[in-house]
Amino acid sequence: MFDMENNMDIRSSIRSRDLIKEDIPDALEVSREELGSDYLTENDFLGIINSDSAFCKAAIYKGRLAGFEMCRIFGPEQADGMLHLPDSPDKDHFLSKKKIGLFDSVAVRRDLQGLGIGTELESSCLREFTSRDVDIICAMAWKSVDGTINAKKVLERMGLTPHIEVPNYWNQMVDSPGGHDCPVCGRPCKCSAVLYYKDMK
Ligand SMILES: CC(C)(COP(=O)(O)OP(=O)(O)OC[C@H]1O[C@@H](n2cnc3c(N)ncnc32)[C@H](O)[C@@H]1OP(=O)(O)O)[C@@H](O)C(=O)NCCC(=O)NCCS
Repeated sequence: MFDMENNMDIRSSIRSRDLIKEDIPDALEVSREELGSDYLTENDFLGIINSDSAFCKAAIYKGRLAGFEMCRIFGPEQADGMLHLPDSPDKDHFLSKKKIGLFDSVAVRRDLQGLGIGTELESSCLREFTSRDVDIICAMAWKSVDGTINAKKVLERMGLTPHIEVPNYWNQMVDSPGGHDCPVCGRPCKCSAVLYYKDMK
């Protein structure tokens, strides 16, 4: 556990930078706790370091990872495999774009949530998407069975707006037999995803 200081001191000492190999054990711990035991693997993090089509930002507090955000960049030919959207005008909209930026996974340590770390990570990813000249940015936001969308405020702060909702979305995003081991509703996961996006051009 981190020593807890007052919130202002914590906020001012958070820094974000690219994830490095040494961050992976902490990133996996945060991911298991906040996104579920089967959602991301060590190879997911290893594969993103030095990738041209993906990046991962780490928020650092007192020299240790406090949260991470993984992002991907792809063309319309990969949109189906990445987003798993049902046929819809929103899907057609994505297929008309050349370069798509996806806020893929974000998680912050439970004891440091609500202090601006998610906003800092997302701002840092937005700057990177802008410098990489993407046409659209999007996220499939986890909407819990109780109706909560944890990332709603952070995404809306970045200018993204909600579109279609896809029920039982997360089971198809993991390899686990029996479906996704959700930290809120267990296995199989009964939560949905809401597509958020913003056209950049
Ligand atoms: C979503 C998450 C990454 C946001 O990170 P964070 O560091 O808590 O974000 P911030 O402190 O920048 O908070 C942004 C706002 O969202 C709000 N928020 C965060 N979690 C919330 C929740 N569960 N319900 C409602 N609002 C929430 C905060 O209150 C804050 O509002 P404020 O700035 O007006 O006070 C973090 O809560 C988390 O890891 N959640 C579990 C995993 C998850 O849901 N990941 C997203 C999957 S799409």
